[in-house]
Amino acid sequence: MSTLWQGRFGRDPAEELMAYTASIGFDVRLAPDDIAGSRAHVRMLGGVGLLADAEVGEVLAALDQAEQELASGAFAFAPGDEDIHTAIERRVTELAGAAGAKLHTGRSRNDQVATDLRLFAKRELSAIAADVIALQQVLLQQAVAAGDAYLPGYTHLQRAQPVLLAHHLLAHGWALARDVGRMADARARLDVSPLGAGAVAGSSLPLDPDRAAAELGFAARFENSMDAVSDRDFVAEALFALTMVAIHLSRLGEEIVFWTSEEAGFATLDDAFATGSSMLPQKKNPDIAELARAKAGRLIGNLTGLLATLKGLPLAYNRDLQEDKEPLFDAVEQIRLGVRALAGLLGTIDWHADAMAAAADTPSSAATDLAEHLVAGGMPFRDAHAAVGDLVRRSLEGESTLAALVRADPRLGEAAAELLAPAVAVTRRTTPGGGGPEPVSAQIERFRARLAADAARF
Ligand code: ARG
Repeated sequence: MSTLWQGRFGRDPAEELMAYTASIGFDVRLAPDDIAGSRAHVRMLGGVGLLADAEVGEVLAALDQAEQELASGAFAFAPGDEDIHTAIERRVTELAGAAGAKLHTGRSRNDQVATDLRLFAKRELSAIAADVIALQQVLLQQAVAAGDAYLPGYTHLQRAQPVLLAHHLLAHGWALARDVGRMADARARLDVSPLGAGAVAGSSLPLDPDRAAAELGFAARFENSMDAVSDRDFVAEALFALTMVAIHLSRLGEEIVFWTSEEAGFATLDDAFATGSSMLPQKKNPDIAELARAKAGRLIGNLTGLLATLKGLPLAYNRDLQEDKEPLFDAVEQIRLGVRALAGLLGTIDWHADAMAAAADTPSSAATDLAEHLVAGGMPFRDAHAAVGDLVRRSLEGESTLAALVRADPRLGEAAAELLAPAVAVTRRTTPGGGGPEPVSAQIERFRARLAADAARF
């Protein structure tokens, strides 16, 4: 078996060693980034005179071929290919001979893998942000289509005050807007090239890390070679941004489960975005929403697992750092699938405005409006709260309906009783950012503008 390090060793590596330590099974995903990194490196080597132009050409041609073989599935992996970096360098050397054997000049897999993973994270964060923006567009469309439909706004999952459905949907939309902002921040901070740091300390050869960084489209090169090869903050930060998306999707998922329950009956899922039961013929289940709830746990595990891996590691590179990749790959994959599934589910959901209104129009959901009516007449809020609370309690004890008690109360009377009529309370949320029709139509415009600005960034 041939390895990159065999010169120093008298025997082949044990099968158990390779089985335990090889990362090719998952880092093959970095192949496009590894090829890009090698192209930049070999051009840099040519630029500083370490490779002749002809050699650069030969290596680039071999990289092109390796890229095609990897894409078509024709790439033949060898037993000693412990990771994607080894596999590609081996193939380039087979194809380009002596020029290929110069590819790794001044480079270590330590700076190479850090470069690959930054390229990967940068691209995937951008792609996921674009997917999240598409989900936000669906929320916006649904908010616009919801018109004046309203439902109870809950606190403690008890009906609190009615709000427009549009308001409720956009609450999730704004949370996702912060996620997009976090992904943009993470992307900007990780936009640094580690290439040229070598194994730990740079090189005696006249490398030009600025040139390699520019070739790869990074905003800057590393400042410190030890930091460059040991920093995985960027993975932790990307994972946190993705985990926060997962948590937001889980909260949305929980609401979808509730809305579509027979108990609430606020919405029905499209057949294409619901699942059935193998035993119970009548069932229509919100499995996407439930998995959105559950996958957040998985992403939290990915994030905390990586943080635990990093904790206490001495500088600089340690093989522990190989464990950075699977959590990130898994998080990217799960978020991509989840965001798309929820976008499809929400784009086709059928709302039941009557059921939502019926739940929102229970008389006591206008209790705050009654108190505010008294406040408008000059009563201190604490007294108004107590007065209305007393009426609510008496109505619950069966003395009379709340409306009749309000009508009979000299401080309230007929005008106040009208506040209890269906569909009235929601119209009284008039303050900026509030849940009634006036502020919500302004909010929709602000959300639309925010989405357009974010879409232009991703
Ligand atoms: N597969 C390794 C990783 O992902 C590549 C770097 C290996 N470096 C080393 N010195 N053994 O971290």
